[in-house]
Amino acid sequence: MLPPGGTIGILGGGQLGRMTAISAARLGYRTHIFANEPDAPAAQVAAAVTVASFNDPAAVARFADSVDVATCEFENVPAAALRRVAAKRPLLPRPEIIEIAQDRLREKNFLRSVGTLTAEFREVGDPDALAAAAGELGRPCVLKTVRLGYDGKGQVLVTADITPAEAWRRMGASVGILESFVDFRCEISVIVARGADGAMAAYPPVENRHVNHILDTTIAPAQLPTDTVAEADRIARHIAERLDLVGVLAVEMFVTKAGTIVVNELAPRPHNSGHWTIDACATSQFEQLVRAICGLPLGSTERHSDAVMTNLIGRDVAKWPEALGDPQARLHLYGKTKVRAGRKMGHVTRLLPLGAAAG
Ligand SMILES: Nc1ncnc2c1ncn2[C@@H]1O[C@H](COP(=O)(O)OP(=O)(O)O)[C@@H](O)[C@H]1O
Ligand SMILES: [Mg+2]
Repeated sequence: MLPPGGTIGILGGGQLGRMTAISAARLGYRTHIFANEPDAPAAQVAAAVTVASFNDPAAVARFADSVDVATCEFENVPAAALRRVAAKRPLLPRPEIIEIAQDRLREKNFLRSVGTLTAEFREVGDPDALAAAAGELGRPCVLKTVRLGYDGKGQVLVTADITPAEAWRRMGASVGILESFVDFRCEISVIVARGADGAMAAYPPVENRHVNHILDTTIAPAQLPTDTVAEADRIARHIAERLDLVGVLAVEMFVTKAGTIVVNELAPRPHNSGHWTIDACATSQFEQLVRAICGLPLGSTERHSDAVMTNLIGRDVAKWPEALGDPQARLHLYGKTKVRAGRKMGHVTRLLPLGAAAG
């Protein structure tokens, strides 16, 4: 157990690291952020900061030496850096789990190996392989980069009228994964925390609505039949257990029109669809992460309100004064000075009475 007063190292300097650092500070921990750019959102609220490349072994080693336990706030930290940290200090979730989530093929193969339903998929290495795989899976289908994709980047909808060469060019990587198109009724996610003792705590499934492949709105909880809720919860706990997770895991899922659940992707870290837990639950997803990696007991996920979370993306951030005038709204800004299209600048959580998200 790492008692309050210890130092948590966070690889990555984005808003997830920022909100984790704020939670850690409330529990009396210090955080040391490793960011690859200056003035990162997390660095603004941390006790210590290293600004260096993840590919700088000496900087990574010094960082590891200076912390008691480490975690990762985004998946795409190079595996070599993860291993370097893990050689010196506990890195939780384990690097092997993060490496699974870095690679869409490994991720889907893992999910299948533990009996979880996913979209049909094929590995494709060139436009000819893509053409053949699209013939098998049927169009439309979805071509994605195997690595380094997020917010729909590196993703192409392969419709009837796009040539394989054009789809390949738009994806822009040397290996792709082609997935069958899931004609879903809605997208949901479940966030589950798991401690070193195997104890788990999960939040209810929430519904996620995307605009331009970027999360726009999360409705908590999702309005689903009780058996679908139970199934989503079971799947998330099963995956956390089979990964031997210590930390927090978000499981993104599709609910099909027939009501079955198909897992889309895994994020072994706090997730944008869990931001509402800061304002509507006894314990936030960020505090759960701190508790899990420090060996503290997990907190209650009890929800005192329903919530609707809206991201402030790009220029939306200019709307922040509106949120301040709404007594039900909680405003979170990430300290990013440069506004760019598609960039997550902050979010607003609107609290509703329990049961009201159904309306
Ligand atoms: N196989 C699919 N069928 C239908 N829609 C998909 C499929 N894969 C992804 N999408 C849509 O694109 C969004 C982003 O894809 P995702 O795999 O989650 O990648 P990212 O890493 O960019 O979040 C999903 O939330 C969903 O709306
Ligand atoms: Mg996703």
